[in-house]
Amino acid sequence: MLVRRTLLGAGLAIPALSACAAITERTPDWLPRATTPDFLRRDTTLPRDPHSHARPEEARVKHVSLDLTADFERKVLHGTATLDIERRADADRIFLDVDGLLIKSVRTNVGEPTWRETRRRTDMGSALEIPLWPGANQIVIEYETSPQAGALQWLEPAQTASGKHFLFSQGQAILTRTWIPTQDSPGIRQTYDARITVPRDLKAVMSADMGPRRGRRVRGGRRFRFRMDQPIPPYLIALAVGDIQFRRIGRRSGVYAEPSVIDAAANEFVDLERMIDAAEDLYGGYRWGRYDVLVLPPSFPYGGMENPKLTFATPTILAGDRSLVSLIAHELAHSWSGNLVTNALWSDFWLNEGFTNYFEGRITEALYGEDLAAMQNVLAWADIQAAIAAGPADSTRLHLPGERGAEDYVAAIAYDKGALFLRTIEAAIGRDRMDRYLRAYFDRNAFQPMTTERFLEDFRYHVVRGDEALEQSLQLDAWAHEPGLPSNAVEPRATGFEEVAHFVNDFANAGSPPAAAPWENWGTLQRQRYLQTLPRALSQAQLDTLERAFGLNEIGNSEVLFDWLSLALRNRYEPAVAPTERFLTRMGRGKFVRPLYRAMMDQGDWGQPYARRIYAAARAGYHPIVQGQVDRIVTPGS
Ligand code: BES
Ligand code: ZN
Repeated sequence: MLVRRTLLGAGLAIPALSACAAITERTPDWLPRATTPDFLRRDTTLPRDPHSHARPEEARVKHVSLDLTADFERKVLHGTATLDIERRADADRIFLDVDGLLIKSVRTNVGEPTWRETRRRTDMGSALEIPLWPGANQIVIEYETSPQAGALQWLEPAQTASGKHFLFSQGQAILTRTWIPTQDSPGIRQTYDARITVPRDLKAVMSADMGPRRGRRVRGGRRFRFRMDQPIPPYLIALAVGDIQFRRIGRRSGVYAEPSVIDAAANEFVDLERMIDAAEDLYGGYRWGRYDVLVLPPSFPYGGMENPKLTFATPTILAGDRSLVSLIAHELAHSWSGNLVTNALWSDFWLNEGFTNYFEGRITEALYGEDLAAMQNVLAWADIQAAIAAGPADSTRLHLPGERGAEDYVAAIAYDKGALFLRTIEAAIGRDRMDRYLRAYFDRNAFQPMTTERFLEDFRYHVVRGDEALEQSLQLDAWAHEPGLPSNAVEPRATGFEEVAHFVNDFANAGSPPAAAPWENWGTLQRQRYLQTLPRALSQAQLDTLERAFGLNEIGNSEVLFDWLSLALRNRYEPAVAPTERFLTRMGRGKFVRPLYRAMMDQGDWGQPYARRIYAAARAGYHPIVQGQVDRIVTPGS
């Protein structure tokens, strides 16, 4: 079917909007005459974001100017947010998103309106409704955050490597509203600047250009200034405060970390500049100036977060052998997919992560070779199959139906099925055509929101161009909207895993002891594959031999340790409890933390007491996001 919903306007001449001036392409023959596809009109009418109270079609925030002080005693940020807004002539109010903010006053450039907070929902905060008098285009909000703000983690000196306080923010998906009163929807892009005052012995960094006179002394501390002149979705506004050092890596790249971590970080990320070069070779110039990585304290809830100019990363990727740096390739890739072309709604999350996962694979391949990328694809295939087997079917769609979004995605689907979709397209149209398409896609849609439907239209317009056979073979709509995997999905293979399969077989047939496996020569992905494909049910004796052969309880690589502990706990292997406890109290990365508690909770009377005991000690060190998630695992019904 080539005639789609957006072509229903066929026959209606659509007047050219000024924004269309840049579009030089002629309407192709296969489109009905006088029809402009919806996505080429670049109209601003996007579906309303169900996770935001904003009504951007009436009035929207264009710029956020922050003047905030970090108070570590009270665990609050306080100060002002000054918003520049644009409004329709007849718009007499603006709606912002706020969650748990203490609003002290609201002023505009033409007076002090009576604001109110309405429509509170526990999952997405309230609407801050501000009446706008004629001429009002700037709003100054004086406020402070709650000590429980979901976006902020305030670390005590005992929780950091430096022994000093630390604060960081995490905005994605809808947490920016817990520290900044603004329109918190990924389709509403805003520039920002900030003045951040911190205690004298600390530094501030942000996802922005760092201003001159860094750390100027002021009353009560030091002040840092920042500017982000490119419009970004508000979930990418990010701040960290701590004893932070910088080390240069390349001409436009470097790493920030606490002093005792900076050497390890600089060593792990030596390839940073080469990664940026590889990414540019694929999809065009890096548009954000500098690219730095901030290594956070171990409670950082994610592997990485693509805050523009300054990726935030977990220290659990500091393996010592650079074997986990593809995570940095991933966050860097978001500088195109996600930060330039942004999911319009959280139900389109796969557009951010699936594209980025595909792009990450391409960078990995360029830097570390085809088979490494292939091994990642094979591991991902297994994850997709597991997610599909686990169901429900609805959770295995790329585009999430209904109001789903922010927290409802399954990573193996949004990330891995998303990337597999793009690899399937690549296989069908060839790598050259795919690369040309993607490069142009990022250019054409830079600084714009993207929906699943728009992407399909864009792809059909620029690539399929009425080729019925190609259309049939791609199954685009099935990929984007149906559960499971379409029939044209091809299972990936990796040479590096053939040897692994051989030793897994041997082990399963008890033909040879695990010690015979060339573990020492294997890379991280091969070790993961081995642990992930061994028989799931193992005897205590088998677990003992495995553990002794490879020293698994003491392994330093977080991904391999995680796979080992998952396997061991599911087999009630007592000697794995102590290393689990160490791991779970040493770091708070959700991807490791959640499944390990789940593995223990699934083991009834054997595992549940361990889960509760470990969590009682570890909880205080976790980020509020992870605390909430683990609460639900360890205390069901909470
Ligand atoms: N943007 C995500 C992290 C994220 C997703 C934060 C959803 C909040 C809500 C980031 O780019 C990411 O995908 N991180 C992964 C690592 C990656 C290599 C798969 C992670 O944190 O594990
Ligand atoms: Zn990502």
